[in-house]
Amino acid sequence: MTPLPRTLGLLGTGVIGGGWAARALHFGIDVVALDVDPGMQDWLRGAVENAQPALARLTCAPLPPPGRLHFTTRLEELAARADFIQENVPENLGLKQRLLAEVSRLSPPHVVIASSTSGLMPSDLQREMRAPGRFCVAHPFNPVYLLPLVELVAGKLTESATLDSAAAFFKHIGMHPLTVRREVPGHLTDRLQEALWREILHLVNDDVASTGELDDAIVYGPGLRWAAMGTNLIYHLAGGEGGMRHMLEQFGPALAWPWTKLEAPALTETLIDRMVEGTRAQAGGRSIRELERLRDHCLVAIQRALREFDIGAGATLRALEQRLERDAAARADGAEGSALRYETRVRPEWTEYNDHLRDYRYGQVFGDAMDALYRAVGVDEDYRRSGRMYYDVENHVRHLAEAKSGDDLCVTTRILAVDEKRLHVFQSMHRRRDQRLVATGEYLHLHVDRATAKAAPVDPRVRERLEALQSSQAAEPLPAGAGRRVGAR
Ligand SMILES: NC(=O)c1ccc[n+]([C@@H]2O[C@H](COP(=O)([O-])OP(=O)(O)OC[C@H]3O[C@@H](n4cnc5c(N)ncnc54)[C@H](O)[C@@H]3O)[C@@H](O)[C@H]2O)c1
Repeated sequence: MTPLPRTLGLLGTGVIGGGWAARALHFGIDVVALDVDPGMQDWLRGAVENAQPALARLTCAPLPPPGRLHFTTRLEELAARADFIQENVPENLGLKQRLLAEVSRLSPPHVVIASSTSGLMPSDLQREMRAPGRFCVAHPFNPVYLLPLVELVAGKLTESATLDSAAAFFKHIGMHPLTVRREVPGHLTDRLQEALWREILHLVNDDVASTGELDDAIVYGPGLRWAAMGTNLIYHLAGGEGGMRHMLEQFGPALAWPWTKLEAPALTETLIDRMVEGTRAQAGGRSIRELERLRDHCLVAIQRALREFDIGAGATLRALEQRLERDAAARADGAEGSALRYETRVRPEWTEYNDHLRDYRYGQVFGDAMDALYRAVGVDEDYRRSGRMYYDVENHVRHLAEAKSGDDLCVTTRILAVDEKRLHVFQSMHRRRDQRLVATGEYLHLHVDRATAKAAPVDPRVRERLEALQSSQAAEPLPAGAGRRVGAR
């Protein structure tokens, strides 16, 4: 497998190019962005900035330093610097063909070139290219920085290694690549969306419902289910114990009824007015930017909720977090003391009515710092799969100052004692803005084997690493407050 790209080249920096830039930069990939319109540089930087608040809330996993953004209008410069190129110019076959052919002549033949096209055929797009085997369609969804789906479609000349490299890169930046078995106009998702869209246009055109009523028909019902399971699995459940077979027997006859009118209606002025007026009323005076922010917060919240159940886009987020944690542990490996330091930022949803971190979130932050330490000493996902792990059996937390939404926190861990089964630590949480000590936590962790549900000796290699960390702190004085109990002085 070729090494993962470090610099993403973007051709066209509108809505989709901007979304790709925000996602790539956030996950540590440099971006060289090109647009024919030099004025797009400011727009692009604004789009990247606008995506930040939502992206920052998506995961607490340790991120690499953000990538650097460079804007150019020179194709030669993009081709010389990028080791993966994503084209996002307007949906026009001739324009895309010309640009793809030109960039393919300038960039080294092993560099993958992908197109964000919503529905054009890859075989048509790659026709004029040099080394067309390195081309594929990689169709993302707006907003690209939050939606993980990317449809990969090969053309007649695409090599299978191209799809493999593209899938590996997209996974690396937290996406879910879905390889489409063969090229069809509209790929998969736009075919599905288009069917729904045509029904909407008919229902509005026939004056059966307003745009708002049709959105309600999705938002309060199927939309909630769709985030976790697709139509097919949902319909399998609709058949009760008989599953899909019973569902088809029961609702099969409806296929012959006039429930859909997939031929699109003509876009008359009346229909256009109804669509525009309807959605304007729904927006209720809110700007596009305001609505985008609202949408983004909802998308983050949905993905974080799905993450708890390891399903759909939540499973993709979990896989990304595990990858980020592995990479952070690898970066920290050998760096003096880094396993004993953990940094995070207080998210708005961690605070209560007075904007202070909630009580139980202190335990979460101390726990996250311990998880990072555990990973660094080898108590990771694989270790836990063997049934062994540390349990927190006793703790004492002191609250000394306030932590507010947006505060950067740093937790340092002092290893007080380690033996065959026990690990005794003292953690100090400081806020970055003034280095105030916000809280301390003293914890006793017990190493347990779940098969026997009893304390059990830790793997000697883990103990060795913990002891090495403890010795590295031996010269430091005991932290004030260590060993204190609950109670009035
Ligand atoms: N908007 C969506 O929801 C969406 C979703 C998925 C895929 N797509 C696809 O992504 C592509 C881009 O869509 P968009 O919505 O970002 O369009 P857009 O109009 O917002 O952006 C296109 C950008 O390309 C630039 N451009 C035009 N000609 C160029 C050239 N020759 N060289 C360099 N830059 C050029 C324009 O200046 C503009 O900034 C299309 O193929 C579209 O089908 C769009």
